[in-house]
Amino acid sequence: MSEIRFDGKTAIVTGAGGGLGRCHALELARRGANVVVNDLGGSVDGSGGNSEAAEKVVEEIKALGGKAIANGSSVTDDKGVQKMIDDTMNEFGRIDIIIANAGILRDKSFTKMGMDDFELVVDVHLMGSVKPIKAAWEIMKEQQYGRLVVTTSSTGLYGNFGQTNYGAAKLGLVGFMNSIKQEGAKYNIKCNAVCPVAATRMTESIMPPAMLEALKPEYVTPGVMNLVKEDAPTGMVLSAAAGAFSMSQIRETKGAFVGTGDALTAEAVAAKWDQITDDSTMTHFEQGGGHTGNFINLIKEATGG
Ligand code: NAI
Repeated sequence: MSEIRFDGKTAIVTGAGGGLGRCHALELARRGANVVVNDLGGSVDGSGGNSEAAEKVVEEIKALGGKAIANGSSVTDDKGVQKMIDDTMNEFGRIDIIIANAGILRDKSFTKMGMDDFELVVDVHLMGSVKPIKAAWEIMKEQQYGRLVVTTSSTGLYGNFGQTNYGAAKLGLVGFMNSIKQEGAKYNIKCNAVCPVAATRMTESIMPPAMLEALKPEYVTPGVMNLVKEDAPTGMVLSAAAGAFSMSQIRETKGAFVGTGDALTAEAVAAKWDQITDDSTMTHFEQGGGHTGNFINLIKEATGG
């Protein structure tokens, strides 16, 4: 296996003042990238903040002999995001990699959740990933090179009590990835998602100490390096925890053609339920057209057309 290097490349990592983002930023720098360390520096719920956290990581990178600049903007602030992009271009002249990692939590049951907590979490995770990517999009197109990573979560893929806001935002990012990978393909812009589990301040209160010890955030980062390398895949959700990795995918059954006109009743659908839900026939589609094509095939098979 050849060494994965990022010499001459510039990477922006959002929320890189601590936790997973810091590990990604340090590793990119170790492997030769110029790194922009973004972090608002607030608390887990998104309140407060200053650029100290980002500056500390920049110092760590410089101590390793790497090149980095700090950015204390919120990923939700249009002007701050634009400044981050402008500063990156002024300092390094390119933007090759964006790892959208910044995030907060406002956990509450849906019954108790205020819409302000819902909107803020969606804003930081979803819009806070979209905005930096949008601001760098034309630059990446021009360069004919871009590697994007969004950070999803098992809550988005599968759900978790008390995290309706977070789950909606996190699966929204997978939806974003699925379409942007298609728009970026002809410009050599690839987009993937990482679905991590790691001991960070975000999770330290909900996991036992032994588990936290096994779930070092730096154990996720080698997977992420594979999502931003030159020959990275695109449209992949890589799950990562404690040094183990897997692929997560949305799949669907082949399904069944029930009929049309008078033959298409609720009872007729119920009669084919076993076939509709037969998970031994699961497939993954690379794009929405594959989903529609599957239905066309079912109709053709059933009608001989
Ligand atoms: P963390 O709290 O250590 O890191 C998040 C960072 O984002 C913080 O340094 C914070 O200051 C920064 N941030 C928050 N709002 C920001 C904003 N508006 N602008 C710029 N920076 C902002 O937590 P962790 O665990 O490292 O989380 C990183 C990402 O991984 C998040 O997107 C999180 O949702 C995701 N994740 C983490 C999991 C875990 O097990 N730790 C599980 C699944 C997903």
